[in-house]
Amino acid sequence: MTEPDIKKGLAGVVVDYTAVSKVNPETNSLLYRGYPVQELAATQPFEAVAYLLWHGELPTDVQLAQLRATERAYRHLPADVRAAIDLVPIDAHPMDEVRTAVSLIGARDLAGTGSVLDVSGSEEENLARSVRLFAMLPAIVAYGQRRRRGLQPVAPRDDLDYAANFLWMTFDETADDVVVDAFNRSMILYAEHSFNASTFTARVVTSTLSDLYSAVVAAIGALKGPLHGGANEAVLHIFDEIGTAENVGPWLDQALAEKRKIMGFGHRVYKRGDSRVPTMKAALDTLVEHYDRPDVAALYDTLESEFVSRKGIYPNLDYPSGPAYNLIGFDTLTFTPLFVAARVTGWTAHIMEQLASNALIRPLSEYNGPDERHIEGYVPDAAHQATADREEEAAG
Ligand SMILES: CC(C)(COP(=O)(O)OP(=O)(O)OC[C@H]1O[C@@H](n2cnc3c(N)ncnc32)[C@H](O)[C@@H]1OP(=O)(O)O)[C@@H](O)C(=O)NCCC(=O)NCCS
Repeated sequence: MTEPDIKKGLAGVVVDYTAVSKVNPETNSLLYRGYPVQELAATQPFEAVAYLLWHGELPTDVQLAQLRATERAYRHLPADVRAAIDLVPIDAHPMDEVRTAVSLIGARDLAGTGSVLDVSGSEEENLARSVRLFAMLPAIVAYGQRRRRGLQPVAPRDDLDYAANFLWMTFDETADDVVVDAFNRSMILYAEHSFNASTFTARVVTSTLSDLYSAVVAAIGALKGPLHGGANEAVLHIFDEIGTAENVGPWLDQALAEKRKIMGFGHRVYKRGDSRVPTMKAALDTLVEHYDRPDVAALYDTLESEFVSRKGIYPNLDYPSGPAYNLIGFDTLTFTPLFVAARVTGWTAHIMEQLASNALIRPLSEYNGPDERHIEGYVPDAAHQATADREEEAAG
């Protein structure tokens, strides 16, 4: 019998076309709708990149103003969503809060939908749903962090753009421009990355003609895992364990001896470095200077150079973003929810793309369980016997 060609983890399998983004590991580049992500991060507000991902083109001034007006209209944390978050145990992971909140928003929005045949929605409806989620997520994430700190939610400010308002709602103070800029860049870098696990999850759910919210809830579940989005949080745990740059060598000796995965390093697609890291590292450098924290840079650089020289495995985006979010003041547990707030743009762009040329995603598997066996004493009825006879005949 020939061995089936199983692609464990779907590694190397091309499952569909996408026009949303292009990851090119050979040239270490990442394009969103054709634009290098570095150029977008250097020149655009996150709202414009969200528009680009959804529509395929950067917005005109008028289009950007319209998107910003809608985003501002949905920035408030609805009372029932706040109440739902409050039902989540305070010591649950904040990704559980975000997942619950999005689930409720979806149920509320789709209430009255007569049948499952009507939930997948038109492109126009899905675009409106995408913008609403994009607008509401900062309030959800900010409230989560404030709730854990025993603080009341902060109302959004109409005079601030997305990134500045996100920081305002989290910290109840106006962030300096350098901080807003670094945060905006991180959102852009996290927005989209082709068929990663969470995006593929969203596409699988969408391919059944389920609704956009269900697809996003499933994607949030996939992103929570430490091999995916959870890695940015895990990087900070590692930094806390190591303490200072001097401890890196002995810490790494032990971690490698225990065959631990060093979070924030390695990538399924990029094997010679993640295209997003230089831009995020530059943003981290500005924060290190702004907050006068050379110790963070020393720990970062030492762990990177030691690990790369020993294993030849390079940092991914989570490596610089974790310490950057820490310097800005986000709690470690809030890092992956921040990733959700950014990636919801890419997920929803993919959901709409999937729907536009849908095929149910349903791969095959090779069975390697026990051979056929039977319940003792069971007497097959006529229909069962006929099936068994057909199977026997087919088997020759
Ligand atoms: C992202 C990741 C899952 C990619 O995995 P992958 O493409 O399946 O690569 P593999 O796990 O097969 O790795 C190949 C080898 O490198 C090792 N390796 C990969 N990343 C490593 C890491 N971060 N620390 C230690 N070893 C690592 C693997 O153990 C494996 O070694 P082996 O061949 O001796 O078994 C993996 O690099 C990882 O777990 N990284 C840490 C989590 C992380 O930062 N995730 C965020 C991704 S953006």
